[in-house]
Amino acid sequence: MAQATAPEVIVETEGKIGIVTLNRPQSLNALSIAVVDAVIEALGGFDRDPKINAMVLAGLPKSFAAGADIGEMKGVTGAAGAEKQLARHLSHWDKIGRLKKPIVAAVSGYALGGGCELAMACDMIVASETAVFGQPEVLIGVMAGAGGTQRLTKVVGKSLSMEMNLTGRRLTAREALSFGLVNRVVPVESFLSEAKKLAHSIAAQPPLAVQAAKASVLAAVDSKLSEGLVFERQSFFRLFETQDQKEGMKAFFEKRKPVWSGN
Ligand code: CAA
Repeated sequence: MAQATAPEVIVETEGKIGIVTLNRPQSLNALSIAVVDAVIEALGGFDRDPKINAMVLAGLPKSFAAGADIGEMKGVTGAAGAEKQLARHLSHWDKIGRLKKPIVAAVSGYALGGGCELAMACDMIVASETAVFGQPEVLIGVMAGAGGTQRLTKVVGKSLSMEMNLTGRRLTAREALSFGLVNRVVPVESFLSEAKKLAHSIAAQPPLAVQAAKASVLAAVDSKLSEGLVFERQSFFRLFETQDQKEGMKAFFEKRKPVWSGN
């Protein structure tokens, strides 16, 4: 009898959060073109869904993702060939970084190469004690191609990023915490529940204010301080057009919990 195969990407909701789980255990969640296509479709769908306020992108306990699928890259030859076959694939990491709603990465086990880059394209990272982060592409004759020399450097600084990108050095979860790469380190049994808890705590906030704050924090990463401050001021002013600003400030003086409408 034919066995039903589990989907490689599982998509679920829990209240106001959307959860996308990578599920390709036989290759430690290697990020094939099909897997990343499914991830971007699911996250993009949640980003457009007015019932969803925050998202979790999770891996499996043994591996968040061990990188882009090397099997799909090994036959690629020439810069033009690489661009033709891989540019669209790699652009999905940037698209994830540009989604409006916050994404918490739930990372346990390997977050290597494209897997580390995928976690860093999210907004926050909850790591299990077994998580390891690294950009080992140099060990297979290439380099990071989905943000690993850029996002990692902005977080951990030039010296450590150089060492990781140039030697393949990996960081333990505790080291990643000490360098500010992850938000918290939790036991492996609870990495997913802790990531969901963080996403729920964001999803309970007024969504327009959350999205404006996310965009403004990203502007700090992407722009000069003077440009970031202008962006922040404009976003702050725009929130005074929302009903949630009226409700939040009214509720403060009425000494009650605000009821967010999302408008
Ligand atoms: N692509 C395809 N398959 C992979 C894979 C990957 N990135 N990582 C692991 N696998 C497969 C292995 O081939 C193996 O398959 P088989 O059982 O069929 O042989 C299976 O997953 C289990 O892997 P290992 O036997 O190697 O497991 P291990 O516990 O001994 O080692 C590991 C684990 C250290 C993660 C090791 O698998 C490894 O080094 N993987 C590659 C990591 C890597 O180089 N990632 C970067 C990829 S390039 C990239 O990501 C570019 C970019 O910037 C986007």
